[in-house]
Amino acid sequence: MIRSVFTLVAILAGAGAQAAPDPMNCDTLDPAPINGSVEFDTIIQPIFTGGPQQDAKCTTCHSPSSSGALSLTPGSAFANLVNVDSAQDATIKRVLPFSSSNSLLFRKVNCGNPGVGQRMPRNRPPLSLDEQRLIRDWIDQGALLQQRVLVNGFE
Ligand code: HEC
Repeated sequence: MIRSVFTLVAILAGAGAQAAPDPMNCDTLDPAPINGSVEFDTIIQPIFTGGPQQDAKCTTCHSPSSSGALSLTPGSAFANLVNVDSAQDATIKRVLPFSSSNSLLFRKVNCGNPGVGQRMPRNRPPLSLDEQRLIRDWIDQGALLQQRVLVNGFE
């Protein structure tokens, strides 16, 4: 009995210390951008595709042959994401440039309950917080295919 009262007190104290519950259960990310100009080709595509040191995190399922209509392979991923409606909920874009919070791609890698389907990568460990930040920064900087080329500091 005494023990269960202690447990209850501990649970209540813990709950009181927490911030308001987040129904989408998103990871908290450092708001500062990692990089001032994230480009798709060199930074975002390799997160999906993997590389010599890393497993493919997305393209095992999101390949041209897979069901689901979202290929994330090089050459098609960008066009399949930017300004394209979600196949499951046409009221949200997969990627809406300058707005990560309104982009399903970001929600699906950042949140346990993304609202549409499951968290990605599906049934695997979440992306690292840095990978999530890079995807957020890429979208919020305008979802560019390649870095802006600056000539003498001007575009
Ligand atoms: C094990 C297979 C699997 C893996 C790995 C996977 N996905 Fe998915 N993905 C799915 C399935 C199935 C759906 C549709 C159901 C859903 O949304 O949960 C989906 C849906 C999506 C959607 C929504 C598409 C739409 O139009 O509604 C996005 C965006 C997405 N995945 C991104 C990713 C990203 C980014 C990765 C890698 C970080 C990834 N997925 C890894 C299977 C997978």
